[in-house]
Amino acid sequence: MKNSRTLNFIILMEQILNAAKSIQHYYNLSAISDNIGEVGEINVQGEKVMKLDRISHDLVLHGLRESKQVMEVTSEEEEEAIRLNKDGRYFLYIDPLDGSSNIKHSLPVGFLFGIAKRNLDGEEDYSLRAGNEFIASGMFMIPSGIFTFALRDGGCWRFLLSESGQYVRPRRVVMPESPKSWELSYNVANLSSYPDEVQGWLNAKTSDFAFRYAGSLAVDFHRLLNNGGMFLYPPIVQHKDPKKNRPDGKLRLMYECAVVALLAREAGGFAVDHKGNPVLDVVPQNRHQRSGIYVGSTSVVKDIQATILKANS
Ligand code: AHG
Ligand code: MN
Ligand code: MN
Repeated sequence: MKNSRTLNFIILMEQILNAAKSIQHYYNLSAISDNIGEVGEINVQGEKVMKLDRISHDLVLHGLRESKQVMEVTSEEEEEAIRLNKDGRYFLYIDPLDGSSNIKHSLPVGFLFGIAKRNLDGEEDYSLRAGNEFIASGMFMIPSGIFTFALRDGGCWRFLLSESGQYVRPRRVVMPESPKSWELSYNVANLSSYPDEVQGWLNAKTSDFAFRYAGSLAVDFHRLLNNGGMFLYPPIVQHKDPKKNRPDGKLRLMYECAVVALLAREAGGFAVDHKGNPVLDVVPQNRHQRSGIYVGSTSVVKDIQATILKANS
């Protein structure tokens, strides 16, 4: 049966859900236990590692190891692939704590993950999977615990965390078609550094939308799934300090962009990268590859995609 949930998958998911609850627990105690600061290390992205980034990575990895279902993990917090069980069935791509700049203010953050399956027909080559090979992806809001989950071709679903720690009340998520609730979400401080065609599009269209930006992809995208519109993190190509340019954008393809792109698609939305290619079609060349992203309601994303493709033709 299509999408039949195998025992292996249930065991894996059980561990992911438990890890999310543990992250929530540590998050809730982070201010009082002095865990809101930095570790004093720089991660593979060249970004400061917060104590909660490290704690969350350790919690998720512990769960994935315990599940015995995982061959290999790609985490934002580790440069190299983490090999777990050579007899496992799954590849995991994780951003254990998304929105680190919110931690010290005790504002919401997220945990993002994508899952791909090993090659079941022959030798596994450990290649990096494109989003269209993910069998599922998900994101947890922390501290509310709300869990949004997409199963490939099975829709996008949202679960609430009950008082007794159960994920309950599944509800299908469909991004609204009506522009009435649509919002735009982007870091407006970067506007003058975006490619000209993106600036032109935004200058012409921003007033058609409401505007919200929380500074965490998980949080901003959570809201976008409810209201529709578009979240974008375009390349930064004309910063006045050229060292601050990011020609491939900031967000990471495997454990940020592809994760939300699958959630969006299963909710009726769409996502393209900075070249106008569907995010789910991009085959990663590098584990920590960055990507520009435009994700949200299909008609809005198709509109900016046409602008990008035209400018680059
Ligand atoms: P992370 O905390 O996992 O490093 O991710 C931060 C990302 C993403 O969550 C967010 O959308 C973006 O950084 C915000 O970047 P700016 O502060 O440049 O707007
Ligand atoms: Mn992130
Ligand atoms: Mn992160």
